[in-house]
Amino acid sequence: MRRALSAVPAFFLLVSVAQAKTCNVEIEGNDAMQFDKSEIKVAADCSKVSLTLRHVGKLPAAAMGHNWVLTEAADFDALTAATLAAAATQYVPKDDRRVIAHTALIGGGEKASVEFSTRTLRKGGEYLFFCSFPGHWAVMKGRFIFG
Ligand code: CO
Repeated sequence: MRRALSAVPAFFLLVSVAQAKTCNVEIEGNDAMQFDKSEIKVAADCSKVSLTLRHVGKLPAAAMGHNWVLTEAADFDALTAATLAAAATQYVPKDDRRVIAHTALIGGGEKASVEFSTRTLRKGGEYLFFCSFPGHWAVMKGRFIFG
């Protein structure tokens, strides 16, 4: 009887492990205002994404700050325009629903991570990632593909 009872939680643990898959993504930014990726693909069975941004340059965040921000492609123009007024929150507008996920803003030699759920992402949806430091999004951007 005792054995049968203990088998129940083990079963549910296996089910939840199968449903919750965290996928790791790594990306780098440098002192030449570049990401090392122009496209990030996340498989449809990833329930979470754990993204790590590394700034491999030497310049401080005030001069060459980088972050990683994810948004719907349709929101890109309006959101990047709004980041200019968000200097107090590292150029990421606070409580803005257009921001799907974002890391902290970092300088050379630093790294920042963010973990987010893919629950709200649509398979085949059009998403863009970018650095929201003023002006950087013109070149520091890429496609984010889910599914
Ligand atoms: Co940047």
